[in-house]
Amino acid sequence: MAINPPNSYRYKLMDASLYAILQEIRDAVRTLVRSIPPADRRRMHHEHVSPLLWHLGHMLYIEQQWVGERLAGLAHDDTRARLYRPDGLRKSERAARMPDLEPLDCEWTDWQQRFPELLTAAESTRPDHPLLACDFILRFLIQHHGQHLETMHQALVARALARDKGTFRPAQTLRSATLTVRYRAWTSGHGRIGDDGPDSYDNERPSHDPHLPAFAIAERPVSNAAYLRFMEDDGYRDDRYWTHESRHWRDHAGAEAPWHWRRNGDGRWYGVNIAGPIELAADAPVSGLCAYEARAFARYAHARLPHEAEWELAMRDRLLLDVGSVWEWCENRFYPYPGFRAFPYRGYSVPWFDGAHTTLRGASVYSAAATRRASFRNFHAADRRHIFAGVRLCHPSCLTH
Ligand code: AVJ
Ligand code: FE
Repeated sequence: MAINPPNSYRYKLMDASLYAILQEIRDAVRTLVRSIPPADRRRMHHEHVSPLLWHLGHMLYIEQQWVGERLAGLAHDDTRARLYRPDGLRKSERAARMPDLEPLDCEWTDWQQRFPELLTAAESTRPDHPLLACDFILRFLIQHHGQHLETMHQALVARALARDKGTFRPAQTLRSATLTVRYRAWTSGHGRIGDDGPDSYDNERPSHDPHLPAFAIAERPVSNAAYLRFMEDDGYRDDRYWTHESRHWRDHAGAEAPWHWRRNGDGRWYGVNIAGPIELAADAPVSGLCAYEARAFARYAHARLPHEAEWELAMRDRLLLDVGSVWEWCENRFYPYPGFRAFPYRGYSVPWFDGAHTTLRGASVYSAAATRRASFRNFHAADRRHIFAGVRLCHPSCLTH
């Protein structure tokens, strides 16, 4: 698939600043795993999140697959592929099969030493390879690793939650507040979504100009204080806000607060992050919600979630504030744009156009800088609440509040 270079990109051998960013993210991942005690590197901390060691091995496997095999013509390593391909081992089998950190870390060091030479050689022997245009492969690896680093933080929050004693005393009591929303209007018309540049994933391409009816979107995501009011208003139990499917999830999960919220013996709420218990700031965007909770809140607020096209147009028109500390659930399922072509492999996006994945926009505090852009599309099943996601409200602009 053609990747259009923006005017500022000139073809050159391995862009030094991109290479430095890749080095940084590799080091961050390796340092993170080393900082965790051995047993916890191997363990599953959350049923949907692979062990930290698996992520470390998977990132190495992905580099070796694309740069080693595809570009430099090195032999395929079947043992490694079986351990670290996403469709290799079942998640539940991964922990027991992982090597210790030491051998894996040595392989990383060796690989990092060989990498510049392998890539530079490929660039001079196969200058027209689509993975090499505009250093696509470096951009791809940086973003890929960044997303896995975020997932590793999900595991670390789950680990901290399991260790939390429930006794933290927040300095300030989180008090609920009436929901206040400042809506920004977007008048009906065509707008551009998607991106064809070398940093975009296949699911962001091709860019196009859908026609959208008028809508209004909240300037900021819903706050912790407003979400607490929903909880106090019996939002979790009031079936008017929950669909058949979401009631099933709620009752099964026993959900009555965001994923990482805990209440101490005095009945006061606090949050848990990777380092342990933390204050929940009243004005901070609520996170720890699955799509069912986000939709229930929207119904309670006589609003709805934004379609991802609405979100992107509003973002490009600078209507949105507070973007990038929580992922924002969208109204729609993840879908291919008209004219979609898989690149560089079917598995990145195609399996998830299955009607079972909801789009999220924005970024969380744990997201890498490399994936923070208006066109980036995240996607997860509607019942996932460990992914640092919250809610921004939207409604047809003809309605008044
Ligand atoms: C887009 C974050 C859902 O982590 O499963 C990483 C990104 N794809 N390796 C995921 C991804 C392949 C993906 N998410
Ligand atoms: Fe991956």
